Amino acid sequence: DKGNYRHFMAKEIHEQPEVIGHTLSRYIDLGARKVDVPGAAAIDFTNLNRILISACGTAYYAGLVAKYWFEKYARLPVEIDVASEFRYRETPIGKNEFALFISQSGETADTLASLRYCKENGAKIGAVVNVPESTIARESDVVFQTIAGPEIGVASTKAFTCQLAVLAALAIHAGRSRGFVNEDQETELVEALGAIPGLAVQALKSEIKIETLSQPLSRVSDALYLGRGTNFPLAMEGALKLKELSYIHAEGYAAGELKHGPIALIDENMPVFVIAPHDGIYEKTVSNMQEVAARGGRIILITDERGAAESGDVAQDVVIMPDVHEIVAPIIYALPVQMISYHTAVFMGTDVDQPRNLAKSVTVE
Ligand code: F6R
Repeated sequence: DKGNYRHFMAKEIHEQPEVIGHTLSRYIDLGARKVDVPGAAAIDFTNLNRILISACGTAYYAGLVAKYWFEKYARLPVEIDVASEFRYRETPIGKNEFALFISQSGETADTLASLRYCKENGAKIGAVVNVPESTIARESDVVFQTIAGPEIGVASTKAFTCQLAVLAALAIHAGRSRGFVNEDQETELVEALGAIPGLAVQALKSEIKIETLSQPLSRVSDALYLGRGTNFPLAMEGALKLKELSYIHAEGYAAGELKHGPIALIDENMPVFVIAPHDGIYEKTVSNMQEVAARGGRIILITDERGAAESGDVAQDVVIMPDVHEIVAPIIYALPVQMISYHTAVFMGTDVDQPRNLAKSVTVE
């Protein structure tokens, strides 16, 4: 049931404050301001040497964000691959390794094959899945369920942000177990996560602005997305969503990679989406934007009030997000990114919930 929405995707985008809230309530104790991750005790994070993450598509981008978190908050090395590569590359699996698989459906063939490879080679298996009775869930030692509810739109939206919510809680848990997150830091991080539902409501208010700026986008043939840190995976997610829904060719790049090649593409016909909250590396992104502006590129900047004030007016359009703690930025900034591709696709008249050539669950390789 689409309720009052035109498409399942719109409904699922707007459900995010609620379903992220449901998901968080399973993994954090907001009263005590502590993470409380059911099943995590089965993993000996203290003695872990490495986490291996495999997933496909949007779930892979959630894993890439989690890599930044596990490394920063838990000082735990993470190796991540798309599952279709991981399953064939015969990576050695050593002692004290934990393999983590991320999948909305829990049925993706390549992700499942990667899981079975790790299991045969003695790794402990965890899965972040949305469907608890799925094959990936059944074959895992520990399941961290996302409580996103059924996702009908083929393009993943709410499953992605719920995956990030679970992974953030798990990274904080790992950091605490390994002694890199102390009590005060845990309180701060858990409070930040607890603020997500309210911040997501605010982020959704940018929809009117996004609808307006999306109209001319429906006439372009290519687009670039740039981000740094945990917003780099989000740039790739934005590009994937635009390709899937509106069939516009798009690429996501780490902003620092711009001058190593993609800058050659920039001209006045090239929209460049910059995903950049005002954080410790914002200034670097401002200089990337100046490089784009100097070549006539059309910048659409997604940032907060401070970021807008310090952007030096290089952007043609600015989408304002609420101020957020850095751990929640990729979750909140996912919402405008999803809405951009949704509204562009609606203007183009493509089949938003069922884009051409795509299937919701990829059970063959
Ligand atoms: C993109 C999208 C796909 C899936 C991918 C993995 O919008 O939906 O890229 O994320 O096929 O699917 P799951 O998460 O079911 O393993």
